[in-house]
Amino acid sequence: MPYRVMKESLNAVIDSLSDGILVTDELGRVILYNQKAEALLGITGKAALGQPVQDHIKNDVLVGLITKILTLNMPYHAEEVCLMDIGNTRLRVHINPVRDANGLLIGSVTLLHDVAQLSAIDKIKSDFLSMVSHQLKSPLSSTLLQTSILLEEMVGGLNEKQRDLLQKIKSKIKGMTDLVNDILDVCMVEEGRHIKQIESLNLSEILQRSIELIQPQAQDKNIALQVTMEDRTPLISGNKSSMEAMFINLISNGIKFTHPGGQVSIGLKKDAQYIQVEVSDTGIGIEDKEILHIFDKFYRERSDRTKYISGSGLGLSIVKGVVDAHHGSIYVESEVGKGTTFTVLLPVE
Ligand SMILES: Nc1ncnc2c1ncn2[C@@H]1O[C@H](COP(=O)(O)OP(=O)(O)OP(=O)(O)O)[C@@H](O)[C@H]1O
Ligand SMILES: [Mg+2]
Repeated sequence: MPYRVMKESLNAVIDSLSDGILVTDELGRVILYNQKAEALLGITGKAALGQPVQDHIKNDVLVGLITKILTLNMPYHAEEVCLMDIGNTRLRVHINPVRDANGLLIGSVTLLHDVAQLSAIDKIKSDFLSMVSHQLKSPLSSTLLQTSILLEEMVGGLNEKQRDLLQKIKSKIKGMTDLVNDILDVCMVEEGRHIKQIESLNLSEILQRSIELIQPQAQDKNIALQVTMEDRTPLISGNKSSMEAMFINLISNGIKFTHPGGQVSIGLKKDAQYIQVEVSDTGIGIEDKEILHIFDKFYRERSDRTKYISGSGLGLSIVKGVVDAHHGSIYVESEVGKGTTFTVLLPVE
């Protein structure tokens, strides 16, 4: 096929895609986009070709994410995924770096998927889930309280068998309470409720509080928590309770997936225009094939290594939702048997 015909066919193919596509070179100049991207981003005709992406795309968040992919030296398969409202349209946006055969960064590719219809169905599902969880929350907490009263023998003595059974009941109820709380957190992230209450946050303070909350869990398992914080970290714009949920989920995973006697280290420092949060443990590690899935809702590794560790598989999907909503990024590095490090980058205010 002659080159010109091939190029025309290629353009016809990308124009017939139902998703928007936008490609830039390594300097952030637009080199290709289709009609759907034109419509979604409000670009007129082919005017943006060869121009810096920020000159034609008026959405600062999208421009910021593309610039980030091009400027940060991200791992090979890095991807930014977020939900974004442009005009009246809700879009799921995927941004990936493009590398040549030698691994050299040569540009970025952005996919824009209109999720308005899906969002409506999702909202019905998430409203239902949120309603059921709310209804379950209070009977569960009162049952937990009543079981504790029985166990503490405040209403009469217990024999060994009764105590043992009550301990088992208590731990099951605790598991259900954790699940219900996780579901409520997922709903909060999905509904975007947390991004409606944004304030200036001092992450060191929030981290300090999260450590206090989680310290008993670490002590019970004889795991040392080591915290390294710079004296003055700049403020970030964010939501307080979701930042706390992010810290608690990452640190509690570190504790959960590390053998007694191990260590979980938490670091907070400024790195260029980001605050970097690092949570690393000396635990069981994550196999390569699992890493792709760990941020999915309800995903848990099912193997001999993890079968006695309980959880609902929602923690990291909450963390990812929180990080995305704050326009940050999260990476994981892990070695089986050695440990795992999660790194979160959050833009400073
Ligand atoms: N620090 C870690 N070390 C080893 N594996 C981990 C670590 N963090 C997460 N994982 C793996 O990723 C999976 C998903 O983590 P996630 O926090 O979403 O769920 P969970 O901890 O199993 O349950 P939940 O957080 O809802 O109580 C875990 O089940 C585990 O297999
Ligand atoms: Mg977890």
